[in-house]
Amino acid sequence: DRPLRQLAADDRLRVGTAVDMTALAEDAPYRSLAGSEFSSVTPENVMKWEAIEPRRGEYDYAAADRLVRFAERHGQKVRGHVLVWHSQLPSWLTEGDFTKEELREILRRHVTDTVRHFKGRIWHWDVVNEAFNEDGTLRDSIWLRELGPGYIADAFRWAHEADPRAKLFYNDYNIEWAGPKSDAVLDLVRTLRAEGVPVDGVGFQGHLGIQYGLPGGVAANFQRFDALGVQTAVTEADVRMIMPADDEKLRTQAEGYRLLLDACLRARHCVSFTVWGFTDKYSWVPDTFEGEGAANILDETYRPKPAYRALQAALAGR
Ligand code: G3I
Repeated sequence: DRPLRQLAADDRLRVGTAVDMTALAEDAPYRSLAGSEFSSVTPENVMKWEAIEPRRGEYDYAAADRLVRFAERHGQKVRGHVLVWHSQLPSWLTEGDFTKEELREILRRHVTDTVRHFKGRIWHWDVVNEAFNEDGTLRDSIWLRELGPGYIADAFRWAHEADPRAKLFYNDYNIEWAGPKSDAVLDLVRTLRAEGVPVDGVGFQGHLGIQYGLPGGVAANFQRFDALGVQTAVTEADVRMIMPADDEKLRTQAEGYRLLLDACLRARHCVSFTVWGFTDKYSWVPDTFEGEGAANILDETYRPKPAYRALQAALAGR
């Protein structure tokens, strides 16, 4: 069996995974597969604001630095995740009493200090994450409420200034197919670029669930973004199901992974395909959706599932 990263190796496409730092430290098979199967990595949690600045003004980059060093040792690129988001913010920030001017300065510092800390070592940054509602309106968040919609352009400008060579992404879920939410993202990116804001790419998270049916029109939707001239990436692919798993569900899951990878392979500027963890042993899904799981490409004992075979076949058959 050739690892996914070898099958993909033509420097146009990186195959990545989100990495759980506890598993990386404590689970030797996990660590070995994370290094051998993938050519890029994304920290699942350790670059988020609550992890990096748990107390105001006290930065803790240790865990994130460990991942960056792991990646460098394994010839992997790093997708930085995430600079501006409504979730996983430290409580000093969400519970603090700040003026708008103070909050803008707090956000500017967070973006600038974090990007500068990793300068030259991050391939892609997810600069703004999940800023839209399903109906295409902007999501209510501390940033929208206090700073207005301009926080998005500001974040990209600050990030670019701190590391001009990193590629800067807008990242979201449920934008893999055409609809009000992906229309809104398309519009945002087109407008920002027309204004000279440094947005380089759009990340389609790719969190699917087979109980909803697999989405249609994904490849065509990727091509709408491709046509804007921005890079695209699948950034967090996983395909969950109602438990227990069975053969048919696993076959449908494999089709779900395959359709995301195919859409990426068919878009000229799709540069990476990342799974949100590679084993059912560690997954955010059962903690978030009761009764659901088995969302990853390897089972809890690291055995390949049909989804893994489908990715292998798609990469090999190009
Ligand atoms: O750090 C604490 C730890 O101290 C505590 O002992 C433990 C007990 O529950 O919780 C730990 O925090 C957890 C954190 O992950 C770190 O492991 C949180 O409870 C848990 O809610 C958090 O979940 C993460 C989730 O983002 C939070 O929104 C998931 O692992 C992570 O996979 C998920 O990732 C997001 C992407 O960033 C953005 N797109 C959606 C995706 C899935 O929700």
